[in-house]
Amino acid sequence: MGGMGTTSNPGGGWAVACGGGAGRATSGGCRMANDEAGVATRGTGAEATRRRAALSITPERAGGSAVGRGVAGDPGPAPDDRPFLPFALPAIGDEEAADVVEALLSGWLTTGPRTKRFEEEFADYVGADHAIAVSSATAGLHLALAALGVGPGDEVITTPLTFCATANVAVHLGATPVFADIGPDGNIDPVAIAARITPRTRAIIPVHFGGLPCDMGAIMALAREHGVPVVEDAAHAIGATPPGAADLTVFSFYATKNLTTGEGGMVTCADPALAERVRLLGLHGISKDAWKRYTAEGSWYYEVTAAGYKYNMTDLQAALGLRQLARFPALQGARRALVAEYDRLLDGVAQVTRPPHGPGDVVHAWHLYPIRLDLAGLPLSRGEFIESLRARGIGASVHFIPLHLQPFYQERCGLRRGDYPRAEAWYDGSDTLPSYPRMTMSDVARVVDATRAILAGATPQTGRERGGAGDDGG
Ligand SMILES: Cc1ncc(COP(=O)(O)O)c(C=O)c1O
Repeated sequence: MGGMGTTSNPGGGWAVACGGGAGRATSGGCRMANDEAGVATRGTGAEATRRRAALSITPERAGGSAVGRGVAGDPGPAPDDRPFLPFALPAIGDEEAADVVEALLSGWLTTGPRTKRFEEEFADYVGADHAIAVSSATAGLHLALAALGVGPGDEVITTPLTFCATANVAVHLGATPVFADIGPDGNIDPVAIAARITPRTRAIIPVHFGGLPCDMGAIMALAREHGVPVVEDAAHAIGATPPGAADLTVFSFYATKNLTTGEGGMVTCADPALAERVRLLGLHGISKDAWKRYTAEGSWYYEVTAAGYKYNMTDLQAALGLRQLARFPALQGARRALVAEYDRLLDGVAQVTRPPHGPGDVVHAWHLYPIRLDLAGLPLSRGEFIESLRARGIGASVHFIPLHLQPFYQERCGLRRGDYPRAEAWYDGSDTLPSYPRMTMSDVARVVDATRAILAGATPQTGRERGGAGDDGG
């Protein structure tokens, strides 16, 4: 298994450059540096190494998107010929590449034996009874709610501080998302959930923000008291304290996630009937193990028992997932080491609050390293801070623009700024710094040095309007 050091670049030149943007890089914003990277860089030796190195130079790496305008008092970036440090890069190495090629040549392009093995190994890893591999966490969340029978007129409680997929899936089923504000750790507050439960509540979706587990004890006690099922959005939480208390748990294997299959997800649960329903709905609603009809023991006959969806995972994705799972402990170790270094170097930086670690009995997955900035009194907005980082060759992002500030949810649910003050306060000062296993300790030092320089340069000035580019909307 490819061990993952924190002082090297184990993925070689497999560059996926993920831009910053609203909360996460969308599929459009996250691209391979070279469509043919898998072919052009395969092999060993000096020539392959040279090609890999060449391919890792994206326009961003060449400094093509340095758009920072500088801020009041900020002398601007020092001359710096270091390559652009993207906000996120997957840890894909030669072993993953070889496994995907093997799958490709095996004849099983779509759901097959590798998907089945990935489900089994993933279930073992998280300690779940059942695991169903799907095409994305969005698909998994949709299936989870559908399997629970969520439909028109129902309410689904979730946090406003999440990616839109968490709430969109409720809308797809005709239900209404109801937001409950966050607590001081960024996760949904059980007390706020309690205040939102009505006879129409049909599900609660806690999101383990950034990989920090929610207070599942309190949430499950509340849910059981009211007879409401719980679906964990564990898109960020592979590697966190294993889930299990909820009725269903959904993981994401999106390109930036701790374990990636490019696009992909997994639904886990304990109830065999619920697992069967998720599996059935995820593949057109056709009877059990539909893929087996193409095997020697399979039969041509099948029955459609529900109008299901087409949300299955392919064996190409599963090949990637199996290799990533084998490397996962090392990948997580690398993430934890980066977090420790960030914590150490940011200690004492006046305007920066470091992310919470949670209580001692939980394991944080550290999908994100979200700092909060206290910029009161400085002529610097959060948007300008991020632009200044970019001007210094560093990608950063924001997690998340709360959903009640998004036009669709404002209109659909009659929401506006002021409705969820804690999520708004979090958002207003939030900046997620790059943190992923391919980074080195000197990358972390570079990000912290840039952060210190920007904050130190942004000295209070009088008579100056704050710049429009720092307007984060909302
Ligand atoms: C909290 C959260 N939930 C759900 C999703 C959707 O995941 P996917 O891209 O696998 O559909 C994301 C994606 O980033 C997310 O951040």
